[in-house]
Amino acid sequence: MARSKPSRGAAKNKSDTVATVKAQYEDLPYPERNPADEKKRLLLGSPSGLPEIEHYLYGGRLDRSKPFRVLVAGGGAGDALIMLAQQLADAGVAADIHYIDLSTASRAVAEARAEVRGLAGITFHTGSLLEIESLGLFDYIDCTGVLHHLPVPQEGFQSLARALAPQGGLGLMVYGALGRTGVYDMQAMLRAITGAEDDSGAKVTVARRLLDASPPTNRLLRNPYLTDHKEGGDAGLYDLLLHSTDRAYRVPELAAEIDQAGLRLVSFVEPARYDPGFYIRDKELLTRLSALDPIERAGFAELLAGNMSKHIAYCVRADNADAGPPEGPTAGAVPVLNLSPDFKGVASGLKELPITLDGLTVKNPLPPLGIEMLKRCDGRRSLDTIRREIGGLDWFRFKPQFDMLYKPLSGLNKLLLRFP
Ligand SMILES: C[S@@+](CC[C@H](N)C(=O)[O-])C[C@H]1O[C@@H](n2cnc3c(N)ncnc32)[C@H](O)[C@@H]1O
Repeated sequence: MARSKPSRGAAKNKSDTVATVKAQYEDLPYPERNPADEKKRLLLGSPSGLPEIEHYLYGGRLDRSKPFRVLVAGGGAGDALIMLAQQLADAGVAADIHYIDLSTASRAVAEARAEVRGLAGITFHTGSLLEIESLGLFDYIDCTGVLHHLPVPQEGFQSLARALAPQGGLGLMVYGALGRTGVYDMQAMLRAITGAEDDSGAKVTVARRLLDASPPTNRLLRNPYLTDHKEGGDAGLYDLLLHSTDRAYRVPELAAEIDQAGLRLVSFVEPARYDPGFYIRDKELLTRLSALDPIERAGFAELLAGNMSKHIAYCVRADNADAGPPEGPTAGAVPVLNLSPDFKGVASGLKELPITLDGLTVKNPLPPLGIEMLKRCDGRRSLDTIRREIGGLDWFRFKPQFDMLYKPLSGLNKLLLRFP
């Protein structure tokens, strides 16, 4: 597995660091994707699905009749780009979508995927998200898994903040420190025993040998919730264990970056996981926790859970006071099952819906009509239509049953609302 030899090792300055990062993704576009698979399935993820953008940033009220300008910053092999471009096309929204990445090899994969799907209206750029002034302002920016690879992440946050339209929104993902337990141990060991003389293929081989040789007490081996080194091919393993420029965030650190860039955090995803009350029932503890501010509470929840390997956040400009999730369901609201499980084979008598979050299984109690409601949350039917379809219960009996679904499932990003 001989590959080209990107210059690696300790980067001396910012441009060396960026060149090393670019070389990695020229060599190993991430994630590994085969454009032909676009014929078989649409990959969904978070952030940047259209239902999420509409729910978290536009209160469920995105004006779909207006053209929508999107930037996918550090778009890699195109996962967010393809998902959002396809969803906008399916929704009939006129979109002007821009993709930018340092890596021409990653761009080629993303372009090929768009071509297989026949997606139009995408402009591809090769370059840095730090140099996007000429692209204009955007209604939505996706930046997933990129900012933590910049030599100075704050420069990236600021560049994206400057590119947001006044009512625009940013969906970002950065690594979470606690759920990445063991990653940085492995990175340190691999730095110690590989060097500039090893090409990426040799480094991947050494990493696999080290994983095989590690005792079961090793912190990465004891962390079952990271899978890139097992399931992500060479690109996934390299990205996780051999990256030259990689940092992870605790909640307060991420909040400080957002704040410093002149942005406002609208919501974490999944929001319930950032609330200590999601885990704790003890009243004395909850009373003490109520004295903390929202970021302190979110940071507490992160420490308590200990399993967050990434943080997904929706943000807007600090001067945009309007943005945010909808207040709650009304008869005209259209519920959307997000990243939906398949309810076709699920028995109507099911009493609870288990959802597993990085090792933590939450059993959500279901109301009597819960499964029949969920089957119809397709992003087209309003709640009133659903109510009539499943027996015409009057609204005041129907609504509490729907609330029993909406409150927990929206907290886990599984059930969202739009108000067409
Ligand atoms: C881990 S990959 C994530 C790709 C994609 N966003 C995803 O989530 O699948 C990081 C990507 O960011 C790109 N990248 C890193 N620094 C960048 C920069 N300053 N400007 C643009 N792209 C950058 C890399 O080339 C790489 O494709």
